Amino acid sequence: MTSDQVILDRALTLEIVRVTEQAAIAAAHLRGRGDEKAADQAAVDAMRRELNRLAISGRVVIGEGERDEAPMLFIGEEVGRGGPKVDIAVDPLEGTTICAKALPNALAVVAIATEGSLLHAPDIYMDKIAIGPGFPEGLVDLDASPGDNLNALAKAKGVGISKLTACILDRPRHGKLIEEVRATGAAIQLIGDGDIAGVIHTTDPEETGVDIYMGIGGAPEGVLAAAALRCIGGQIQARLYPMKQQDTERAAIIGITDIQRKYSRDELANGDVIFSATGVTSGSMLEGVRFRPNLIETETVVMRSATKTVRWIAAEHQFDDIQS
Ligand code: FBP
Repeated sequence: MTSDQVILDRALTLEIVRVTEQAAIAAAHLRGRGDEKAADQAAVDAMRRELNRLAISGRVVIGEGERDEAPMLFIGEEVGRGGPKVDIAVDPLEGTTICAKALPNALAVVAIATEGSLLHAPDIYMDKIAIGPGFPEGLVDLDASPGDNLNALAKAKGVGISKLTACILDRPRHGKLIEEVRATGAAIQLIGDGDIAGVIHTTDPEETGVDIYMGIGGAPEGVLAAAALRCIGGQIQARLYPMKQQDTERAAIIGITDIQRKYSRDELANGDVIFSATGVTSGSMLEGVRFRPNLIETETVVMRSATKTVRWIAAEHQFDDIQS
């Protein structure tokens, strides 16, 4: 990308951090309370308030649902106090169940991209396969068998398949996939929730132990994961996975008529992208929010596609700074 194509101001990279920090803090107050909805609502309120402080003219394209089912951060909602026109993808609390149970890896996530560059995906399922950077485009493919994909990746890495680990959501729908992966000799890291982190983990296998992400998760999470990979490199291929006729109809309403279409990373997220995630509960990617006697600590990763810079930001917030 040349500098004149960079639309999003560098300063926005730090402003967006505040958005996920405040959402994470709000949700963290409700960790372990067994109330998914309350934690999600707290994150949504905080995220919306912070987005409205940004100098952007933003439109939510991945949000909490359609207008009639989500009073805030609904798809199509306009946020910001004026500025460059941008698409906004939010997951104020990625891992609502994790947060309610105070288990690892709940995150607050947002991506901002130049207008028209994020796929307007309905909130249905999506089949995904992702690997880290440095491999030929198309090395793995949703239409190839798990064995063929693992074989191709092992060859490209110059290792045996038994050295690979696939990250898969622990769901009954993945029974066959898990069986096929195990039959190759590869290891599986089964995750309870949180496939945005699962996909991002493929970009640093030495640190995370994850070489490939496979399986069906949420479509909004697929777009957010693609936004992150656009910043840090790596491939993702995805296809909507309707479970019922109504899902296909929901996709059609927002203009997706070819439900079988496979999307590449850059078809999911294009243009100038900034991605930010703050830990709500501690996990393999980020430390969760810590409440100290007089301050609150957060950890955030923020990335920018224009420069490929990745910043890990440990912040201390005085209680006076925390909005309620
Ligand atoms: P929520 O925060 O909406 O609960 O999403 C958590 C998550 O695990 C996502 O990371 C994943 O994409 C999706 O749920 C999978 O959906 P399901 O739990 O229905 O299998």
